[in-house]
This record gives sequence, C-alpha cells and structure tokens, in this order.
Amino acid sequence: MTQRAVNFYDAHPGTADLRREVLDGLAADPRAIPAKFFYDERGSELFDRICELPEYYQTRTEMAVLRTALPQLGRLIGAECLLVELGSGASKKVRLLLEELRPSGYLGVDISKEFLLNSTEALARDYPWLEVHAACVDFSAGLAIPHCNPTDHKVAFFPGSSIGNFDPDDAVHLMRDVGLLVDDGGHLLIGVDLKKSVDVLNTAYNDSAGITAAFNRNLLHRIRGELDSDIRPDGFDHYAFYNPQAGRIEMHLISSISQDVRVEDQVFEFLPGEGIHTENSYKYTVAGFGELAARAGFRQQAVWVDEQGLFSVQLLQYHA
Ligand code: AVI
Repeated sequence: MTQRAVNFYDAHPGTADLRREVLDGLAADPRAIPAKFFYDERGSELFDRICELPEYYQTRTEMAVLRTALPQLGRLIGAECLLVELGSGASKKVRLLLEELRPSGYLGVDISKEFLLNSTEALARDYPWLEVHAACVDFSAGLAIPHCNPTDHKVAFFPGSSIGNFDPDDAVHLMRDVGLLVDDGGHLLIGVDLKKSVDVLNTAYNDSAGITAAFNRNLLHRIRGELDSDIRPDGFDHYAFYNPQAGRIEMHLISSISQDVRVEDQVFEFLPGEGIHTENSYKYTVAGFGELAARAGFRQQAVWVDEQGLFSVQLLQYHA
C-alpha cells in the first residue's frame, strides 16, 4: 500500500444534506437552493473553465494583483506560517504564495472531495518541503477543521471572491469563524470583487460559450443524479443579472415550460418563467468591505487593487 502524501480529513456532507436543502429550497417562497451545491466534481471542473473565460475578469485580475502584492505580503506575514486555504478548488493561486511565504504547513479546505484530493496531492508532489493537509468540509456550516498547533501563525487564504457568495450577515459570521481559527494577530488574505460597470458584470456571468449556464444547470444534474428525481435540466434556462439595489449578481434557473418536477416523494409545479434562485455574488467597495470585516474583528492591514479597479486582494488582521 502506498502512503498518501496528504493528510486527509473527510467530513464530506452526504446526500442527506443535498436532499434536505433541495426539498426545503423548492418548498420555500421564493424558491432558492444554496450555491455550494454547484460543486461536485463536474461543477468544480466547470468553475475552473469559467475562470479561463475572456469575460470572467476575476481570476486573471486576482492573479495579477497577487503577483504585485507578493513582496509586501512576504514582509507583512513572514515565513513559517500555517496556510489554510478555504474553498481551495484547483489550488492554483496558492502556488504563488507558497513560493513567496514558504509556510511550514498547508491545509486545503473544500467541499468537492475528488477535486480537493487531486489538487492537494499535486501540491504535495510539487512542493516536497511542505506538509500538506486536506479537509473535505462544508465550511459555510462552521469551521470545524482539524486541530493545528496553537502556536502557529495562521493565515487563512480565501481567494476568488467566494466571500461574495455569502449574504453580508453570513459573510460576517464566516469571518468570525475564520478569526477564531487564525487567532489574535492571525491573518486573512482575501480576494474581493469590486463594484463596477453593470455591463462588465452582466457579461462576466453570461459568457458567450455558455459555460456559466452549464455550471448553473449542473445543480439540476446533481439533483437528478444523486436524488430520486425526474427534474429535466433542459427545461430550465440560465438567468443572471446585476441587482443594483442589493449590490449583487443573482443567478437563477428559470422554467421554460409548464412542468411538474418530482424530487423524492414531493412534486413541485413550475409555470413558464418561474424559477429557482441559485446564487448571489456580492460586489463591494474597498471601504464597504472594510466595514464588513470590522464587524468580524478584522482590520484592513493592506489592500491591493488592479489599475482598472476591478478586483481587490486584502490582507486583514484579526484582533480578538
Ligand atoms: C466562486 N464564486 C466566487 C464565483 C462567483 O463569481 O460568484 C462563482 C461563479 N458563478 C458564476 N460564475 C462564477
């Protein structure tokens, strides 16, 4: 038997979570299912493809901003930290940090198990000096991740503006959990997408290749594949738009026909135009995000933004 290079902790949310949240979400008014259910293996792969799209400025902009921030980050954080990446996905951005920060350990946390295993095993292969851990956890339900040495200087890394997928109060809640994890003086390095032209935003979530639409519909494929359901993904259209009052992109799946959808022993009626709200993606100003972070006990220590003002990378420090 070969020994794993990655210490793996499995708290993968089971099908019961999906069943309960889908049934509750379809019974609610308005209907809504949490965005975290996009991310099975196929959903994570589709998201990776979104990150490469010309319309989706976020990933390449964040990478560029991170690159310019690296020397300063090295000075502010110092060496030998324990780096905890939340929603680590393909773990591409963290490679930049590993080279610069030379942490003593890395813990990748993600809800998508196979994806997490593959990406952390690749990290362990490519950085033999690094101790690599992986935790398959739904961190939106609390940050019960494996015990780490209390004396470590902990740095949480939460890139990609995934914080935008939480409603502001939930974002504060999550950041409070991160604060408890990193402890007094610990850091949160976070990518935050900024408010900008509505056209740029709408285009980013309505790409011409239809990858975002496939990503959105993947939720329905999961319901059909993992639950007892006759839901037809092709009976729903992708709909994404910027809601200026709420300061967020909203994604919905809209029924294109009149249909009854069965999930387990329940039937849900959809009229044409009726939908399921599947994702919010909040956009912030730098100052607005600073206020949100302060509610969770974090102070903005340094903020980097690209020249066009599209995306920010923020180093926050926790004060218990
Ligand atoms: C993961 N998250 C930050 C992405 C976003 O932009 O809200 C998910 C996504 N949804 C559609 N495209 C990308």
